[in-house]
Amino acid sequence: MSEALAAIATEVRECRACPLWRTAKQGVPGEGSAESGILFLGEAPGFNEDQQGRPFVGAAGQLLDELLAGIGLDRTKVFITNVVRHRPPENRDPLPAEIAACEVWTAKQLAALRPRVVVTLGRFAMGKWLPGESISRIHGKPRVVDGVTVFPMFHPAAALRSPSLRPAMVADFAALAIFIATGPAVAPEAPKPAAQMTLFGG
Ligand code: URA
Repeated sequence: MSEALAAIATEVRECRACPLWRTAKQGVPGEGSAESGILFLGEAPGFNEDQQGRPFVGAAGQLLDELLAGIGLDRTKVFITNVVRHRPPENRDPLPAEIAACEVWTAKQLAALRPRVVVTLGRFAMGKWLPGESISRIHGKPRVVDGVTVFPMFHPAAALRSPSLRPAMVADFAALAIFIATGPAVAPEAPKPAAQMTLFGG
């Protein structure tokens, strides 16, 4: 992990910006490669992640590992984190205020990683860039939003609950492998701030 990412991880573990730290055992900042250009963004730590302080180490993580292996990757070659970095009690859905409080870490990790592609796992991560979209409609299709290539996918936990989603996840990982092999090698240029555009755009 780069120095910047390690510093962010330390800050995440000490974060008190929302009340989730009170019921969680520890913060789960995320882990993986700083160089791969591939960021997986999930929902929130569950029981196992809270115990170990690492993302996706429970049943959903096992499926994620299998899907990564299916395209010749493993978790050390990508970076994995969540939109919420302390476990919500009883694994309930994260609240909008908790996602908003944790957004600062998502922004800092994005700035440190400058990923070629952000794979969003589930609707909470997708909602950061594509609010109001239906994951069933847009999964597996990359889109550039605000200078970030977003690759929406179902959450692996959804495929565990509904095995009929599994073939779609396998197909989306195959599409991701093609994107990685043939897509742009760098992150897209972020759009210029509006003020600058008026200044130079006439
Ligand atoms: N589900 C998530 O969204 N994130 C984890 O880290 C584990 C399970």
